[in-house]
Amino acid sequence: MIQRDNQIINTASTTQDNKLDLALRPKKLDEYIGQRDAKMNLKVSMQAAQKRDEPMEHLLFYGPPGLGKTTLANIVASEMGVNIKTTSGPAIEKQGDLASILTNLKENDVLFIDEIHRLKTQIEEILYSAMEDYALDIIIGKGPTAKSMRLDLPRFTLIGATTKIGSLSAPLRDRFGHIHKLDFYSNAEMEQILSRSADLLGFKIDQKSVAKIAQSARRTPRIANRLLKRIRDFATVEDVEAVSLAFTENCLKIMGVDLLGLDKTDRQILITIIEKFQGGPVGVNAIAAATAEEAETIEDLYEPYLLQIGFLDRTQRGRVVTENAYLHLDIQRPKGRHSEQKNLF
Ligand SMILES: Nc1ncnc2c1ncn2[C@@H]1O[C@H](COP(=O)(O)OP(=O)(O)OP(=O)(O)O)[C@@H](O)[C@H]1O
Ligand SMILES: [Mg+2]
Repeated sequence: MIQRDNQIINTASTTQDNKLDLALRPKKLDEYIGQRDAKMNLKVSMQAAQKRDEPMEHLLFYGPPGLGKTTLANIVASEMGVNIKTTSGPAIEKQGDLASILTNLKENDVLFIDEIHRLKTQIEEILYSAMEDYALDIIIGKGPTAKSMRLDLPRFTLIGATTKIGSLSAPLRDRFGHIHKLDFYSNAEMEQILSRSADLLGFKIDQKSVAKIAQSARRTPRIANRLLKRIRDFATVEDVEAVSLAFTENCLKIMGVDLLGLDKTDRQILITIIEKFQGGPVGVNAIAAATAEEAETIEDLYEPYLLQIGFLDRTQRGRVVTENAYLHLDIQRPKGRHSEQKNLF
């Protein structure tokens, strides 16, 4: 009986989860909180394009996962009143796949390519002329009889998103009119995002709880929304009408999220560097091997936040755990280590 009830709760919450994601995603630039510089620049380029009745310049958004790249791409299309076609680097396997996407676009449409750094080189090359001349160079036939043909494309806007700007080739990067870096959000912005989401969900939660979740959400809206939804689930299950700070703290504890938003893996990474590599410096591959995580996952998902809150330092010789991390983890730092890294004066 209990199991059956749980299943019902589970199924309901998954379908609802997807619906909630759609409900929480800002649809207009004014609803999009923070990222002031990117927003300001985008506003100007959108207005200029509209005045000239031209498509927007190609845009590249980069930054750690969950900061709002996909959201922003959708907002640009919606503000410009055009269609958006969404795909991703690894999803485009053959040149023909990209050719068919491009030829099906309409004038001024947005083509959004997520994880654009994962495009294969020969596919990326097709993009060059598409972005620059709105043309597609295709080769028909094989060997000495092969002929090259040029097809005109509608004038479109390419929006690329990547968590790894360094992995993008220079020729591709140079073809974007604007490159916007999305930054981690401030505490105040995180609180605004959470209050907005709680309102949209009709979820009663006090300001102190909002502040607490904001602190624990790694300055990342996706994580903030996820924590909020989990706490809302706890409140539903326990018939709590208005959520208090004590309730929130308890939920966060159950979820294994600490005060600064570190989860088990973050702590494991730091503790591994401390225990197995004497606090560093150590390369990311060695950390990956010792923690059984992929190096890429550490670099993309965990490290940016640990660097941002100053728990890790990146030196030429590798990653080093900082004094603040020792303090947070309540681990005694071995005396005399890394004194060369300390900037005393
Ligand atoms: N500026 C913002 N204001 C309010 N909510 C936001 C903002 N940015 C992101 N969000 C919320 O966070 C969620 C995650 O954002 P999004 O999917 O755009 O991130 P992303 O950068 O594309 O991540 P990934 O790199 O994993 O693709 C969205 O569903 C949205 O609800
Ligand atoms: Mg995305």
